[in-house]
Amino acid sequence: MAMLTVPPVVLAPLPRVSVEDGATRRSAFYGNLRRPLYPVIKSETVDPVRNPYAPGAGQRPPELAGRDRELQQFEIVLERVARGRPERSMVVTGLRGVGKTVLLNTFKSMAMQRLWGTGKIEARPEQSIRRSVAAALHMAIRELAPRHRAPERIEEFLGVLKAFAMRDPSAAKGTSHWSPAIDVPAGRGRADSGDLEIDLTELFVDAAAVATDLGVGIALFIDEMQDVQAPDVSALCAACHELSQSGGPLIVVGAGLPHLPSVLSASKSYSERLFRYARIDRLDREAADLALIAPAESEGVEFTPEALDALYEAADGYPYFVQAYGKVAWDLALRSPITADDIRVSAPEAEEELAVGFFGSRYERATPAERDYMHAMASIGDEPVATSDVADGLGRKPSSLSPARDSLIKKGLIYSAERGLIAFTVPHFGKFLRSQPV
Ligand SMILES: Nc1ncnc2c1ncn2[C@@H]1O[C@H](COP(=O)(O)OP(=O)(O)OP(=O)(O)O)[C@@H](O)[C@H]1O
Ligand SMILES: [Mg+2]
Repeated sequence: MAMLTVPPVVLAPLPRVSVEDGATRRSAFYGNLRRPLYPVIKSETVDPVRNPYAPGAGQRPPELAGRDRELQQFEIVLERVARGRPERSMVVTGLRGVGKTVLLNTFKSMAMQRLWGTGKIEARPEQSIRRSVAAALHMAIRELAPRHRAPERIEEFLGVLKAFAMRDPSAAKGTSHWSPAIDVPAGRGRADSGDLEIDLTELFVDAAAVATDLGVGIALFIDEMQDVQAPDVSALCAACHELSQSGGPLIVVGAGLPHLPSVLSASKSYSERLFRYARIDRLDREAADLALIAPAESEGVEFTPEALDALYEAADGYPYFVQAYGKVAWDLALRSPITADDIRVSAPEAEEELAVGFFGSRYERATPAERDYMHAMASIGDEPVATSDVADGLGRKPSSLSPARDSLIKKGLIYSAERGLIAFTVPHFGKFLRSQPV
């Protein structure tokens, strides 16, 4: 029988595409697209396809500007914990859109680079942290397991982890049949008492022991930490406290709204000694400029000094706004350098996008009574305001407004700055509300 011979497939060499050339338009590869793309792109050098800016929740910015101090601090935390030195866990706080999630994700990458086990959760007000902590530590151990020499140690820990997860009270009530995808039998007698404080402590100690075998650590990241339920906060602090005494290499790294430190200290008075607080804020002028210039530079685009002035005035250094204004300015600019005129032309569009995506989506979550409360706050001013002044403004008794205030705090729209004072968690929210019909 004659053999079928298949002729070798000869692949034509791919055309060389370089970014400097404007890969999307000038290379032969995209030559056929040139005409349809031109009317959309309009400009030759400021190409919307290569727009580097990234406004969005947790979106990794093209340049993480102005956070060197926090990164250095975390580097030291990692090093000290790995060496078994006493060290406090870190908690990052700040307003909405200031870059907490992005910083937490960067910390996570730093820990992973050191071959630590890592896991991350996002706290929710209506949920106990038991399951999510179990899932996050499961991830962390999966990262470490392939390097561990004694598989039975890993299995033993997974048994404890499974028992811990299965003590979820909602699962016991039959409201859920969730059980972790861990294919070892659940252990007995460790981390399964049903008391979260005891269980979390035992789980952390055991997880830390696995990491110790490898000479690394485990980092558990908790975003929106202010939403952890009160009993769980207390259990978490107690577990961290225990761990800090035993020197186990496991740290909890949190991020949350500015009132998070008071949430933690209301739960355990020693929490201030447990966590190192890093408040992050708007970027200063130099950092805000860097956040815009550095990504543009890699695309061969520049800004005039006046454009940077106008952008700083518009974005006020808030990272989310820096990305939002930068993105629209880039899309509408015809050529490099981007000028103050480009900013003037593009600002209304950026504001419109922010009004819908950043402010509007949050405003929508408030009930009519909560909206009245926020409008009253906004009419007083942009600084933290006294709750008694809000009540006066609405012609009501302060006590009758407590439900609206408390639920706004729960929804993360306002926070209690200090006793008797409240403020918006969203930067420029007062200005936005004043521009809305009451
Ligand atoms: N250091 C930075 N430099 C430049 N841009 C940044 C920086 N940090 C964050 N951003 C940008 O700001 C935006 C918001 O970041 P992020 O979601 O991390 O904020 P957040 O504080 O977690 O907000 P929220 O409280 O709403 O969760 C993202 O678009 C991100 O790219
Ligand atoms: Mg966030």
